[in-house]
Amino acid sequence: MNAPLTEQFLTLQEIVAAAQRNLPPGPWSYLVGGAETETTVKRNRHALDSIAFRPRVLRDVSRIDSSSTFLNQKTRLPVMLAPIGGLESIVDGGAAAAARASAEFGVPQVVSSVCQPGLEQTAAAARNLRVFQLYVRGDDAWTDDFVQRAQDNGYRAFCFTVDVAAYSRRERDLVGRYVKPWRARAIEGAAFQAGLSWDQVKRYKDKHNGKHSLPLIIKGIATVEDAEIAVQHGVEVVYVSNHGGRQLDHGLGAAAVLPEIVKAVGKKAEVWVDGGFMRGTDIVKAIALGAKAVGLGRLCGLGLAAGGAAGLVRALEILEDEVRICLGLLGVTSFAELGPGYLAPAPAVNLPDAFSAFPLLTRP
Ligand SMILES: Cc1cc2nc3c(=O)[nH]c(=O)nc-3n(C[C@H](O)[C@H](O)[C@H](O)COP(=O)(O)O)c2cc1C
Repeated sequence: MNAPLTEQFLTLQEIVAAAQRNLPPGPWSYLVGGAETETTVKRNRHALDSIAFRPRVLRDVSRIDSSSTFLNQKTRLPVMLAPIGGLESIVDGGAAAAARASAEFGVPQVVSSVCQPGLEQTAAAARNLRVFQLYVRGDDAWTDDFVQRAQDNGYRAFCFTVDVAAYSRRERDLVGRYVKPWRARAIEGAAFQAGLSWDQVKRYKDKHNGKHSLPLIIKGIATVEDAEIAVQHGVEVVYVSNHGGRQLDHGLGAAAVLPEIVKAVGKKAEVWVDGGFMRGTDIVKAIALGAKAVGLGRLCGLGLAAGGAAGLVRALEILEDEVRICLGLLGVTSFAELGPGYLAPAPAVNLPDAFSAFPLLTRP
């Protein structure tokens, strides 16, 4: 009999190592890889590794509340499971396994439109807080069908991912000759996706503007200019993301662009962020910089690969422990007390890469 996960995994590093042992080389490369030189992947980490803390002491931190709210609902941590397409190649049950972990631990799930099972079955798998993410690969009627189905199945918001005008060259997959089982589906709508513009955003907001309409999230905002345009279109959530460095290579780190976006639009829209967030300290940094929620992409996939839904729950428990320790050592008892005053720029101490958050690992 295997030891319980609470004994098998005392650290996130052990979860990452288990995920690597469990996954065949193709799905492993797909999960951890990025575009071309993987410079954006590294910059995501570099941006986080270049922020230090300014802790305050001798404050009563005997009671810490690390919960938050997400679309006005309470969540156990200010994190969400970011959308992951092809999750079914990483864990049995795919998005349904992620849904179960999301419900059991108590953080929201953003469900990808290119993931199995479909949105109905994923919703039926657990009573969790869920958002639906669409790659817009069809006309208005096609999109509206997804909106209706999302609404009918208890999704709380609708998300367009917009940093996919072209599918990038993921060299780990190319060199490993990993042919994604869902590749044909992805190619089908590629031309449509390349033609997207703010017109589709305007159309969504014009059409879905009732009291019970799903709020709109635009995922893949990487500049303050686009954040401002999104807000002018009435978008409720600006989701700062470079797709985990999987799309445009040589972008800036997500945490590096976050502050100016928060400054420009933070009072008019919620700002969410993802890209390289792996540890409790990373989450605390994002919230101190003004993000409302932090997406976990690879960490979510790694937890699932390490031990299915239970593995992801265990990863989230360790993350929560790290968050609470960080808050206490900073001298705050809740996220509401945080602000940029708890942070300072500092040179990164390691050359960053996708795994620099896990220094004890043998480099994959
Ligand atoms: C294996 C994998 C598949 C992904 N599929 C999607 C997707 O279907 N839709 C989407 O909007 N983003 C997708 N992303 C991007 C994530 O939602 C998120 O932006 C990114 O992973 C965050 O960076 P991180 O992995 O460093 O946490 C995917 C990421 C990974 C790792």
